[in-house]
Amino acid sequence: MITMNHIKKTYQMGEEEIHALDDISFDVKTGEFVSIVGPSGSGKSTLMNILGLLDVPDSGEYFLEDINILDLSDSELAEIRNKKIGFIFQGFNLLNKLNAIENVEVPLMYQGISGKKSKEKAKFYLEKVGLKGREKHLPSQLSGGQQQRVAIARALICNPDIILADEPTGALDSKTGQEIMDMLKDLNEAGQTIILITHDLNLATQAKRVVRIADGKLYEEGENA
Ligand SMILES: Nc1ncnc2c1ncn2[C@@H]1O[C@H](COP(=O)(O)OP(=O)(O)OP(=O)(O)O)[C@@H](O)[C@H]1O
Ligand SMILES: [Mg+2]
Repeated sequence: MITMNHIKKTYQMGEEEIHALDDISFDVKTGEFVSIVGPSGSGKSTLMNILGLLDVPDSGEYFLEDINILDLSDSELAEIRNKKIGFIFQGFNLLNKLNAIENVEVPLMYQGISGKKSKEKAKFYLEKVGLKGREKHLPSQLSGGQQQRVAIARALICNPDIILADEPTGALDSKTGQEIMDMLKDLNEAGQTIILITHDLNLATQAKRVVRIADGKLYEEGENA
């Protein structure tokens, strides 16, 4: 599903060059649950942003299915991102003034779907993440774990090929974090491809496959850093 070859991303900070991603090659197959683990500053979010088509590398190849990502315009990238990728972030990234159901509907709105059909779909996904009865709650009226579940419903609503989760439990206590992790595992059991980015080794090792990132370089588990 994903093939990355020799991906590089360098930031120029005055005199200094920061090799945020230093020649990364990475494959993900349909149905995998891969975690990417590494310390702060190792390049995790940079990689996530490129995987998620929020940013482009300086060089290398990235194929998402058979699409050559480096050939696409910004608007083509946005379209594919909306259709194929569901994001879950540490800070939930919900819209404060929208209730749960409206937040979950946002990706459908971008596809021009609204009204009864969209509401019903959003309701279905909220129920799926265990939030039946919380449809009208604003983010401020939900617990952290519930907010993250709204974000998971929002990520699922377009039936994405891949879920990208960047520190999805980072703002949660360990018990609630484990509940979110269990939900991701269940989704994967049902066939969803998931890439989880975390600095938490305990969470990372619960995925079927673990890769480590250090100083912008990627290592499969078992390889030496
Ligand atoms: N826009 C930018 N401009 C300059 N340097 C950047 C930029 N974004 C990231 N970096 C640098 O690239 C490196 C990788 O950053 P990245 O955000 O990918 O790390 P991370 O692994 O996600 O860290 P954390 O666990 O703290 O979120 C860091 O050294 C960071 O300072
Ligand atoms: Mg990060």
